[in-house]
Amino acid sequence: MIAMQAASDAKIEPLYSSGDIQRRIDELARDIAASSLKEPLIVAILKGSFIFAADLIRALHREGLAPEIDFLYLASYGEGIVSQGAVKILHDIASPIEGRDVVIVDDILDSGRTLAFAKALLTKRGAARVFSCVLIAKQVPRAVPVEADFYGFRCPPVYVVGYGTDLANHYRELPFIGKLVKP
Ligand code: IMP
Ligand code: MG
Repeated sequence: MIAMQAASDAKIEPLYSSGDIQRRIDELARDIAASSLKEPLIVAILKGSFIFAADLIRALHREGLAPEIDFLYLASYGEGIVSQGAVKILHDIASPIEGRDVVIVDDILDSGRTLAFAKALLTKRGAARVFSCVLIAKQVPRAVPVEADFYGFRCPPVYVVGYGTDLANHYRELPFIGKLVKP
């Protein structure tokens, strides 16, 4: 496996190439298009999902959908590599969602706290149906029982970066997703 040296001393081992990701997104878009969503509103969870969401909505367009997009900036209390604690809203969506079919888009499903929080929030606000789509569903025990309706890859319990996902705001620019290997 090719390994590359990035900004810090950490080593990134590629897990999913740019081509792997694009092929999987095309399949996801076909699956989402097949679920007869009515004028879906994509709610992309910032920051991690911004690149995934950008590619996904264009793949949805190729499938004949005309999704709207809004952004929900969420953060877990506490920083670092292990997700912990409560979720807070740093920036809310602007779109009315009452009666809408909503698709929450996130980069990674890990403990489940973020997705569970977003689903509960949008359901409470009166969305008709709330779907969820994550690029990576980590195979770890969830702290909150939630799964995504659509997911790109099931990934082992490793820390990943790239393609929008980060470590302390670094590595988002990588075109692939890699496993962070401590030096
Ligand atoms: P959860 O709330 O524990 O499910 O975590 C979801 C959020 O934690 C994701 O939206 C990511 O931003 C972040 N996260 C979890 N695992 C990773 C990882 O391996 N790399 C980068 N970010 C991660
Ligand atoms: Mg995130």
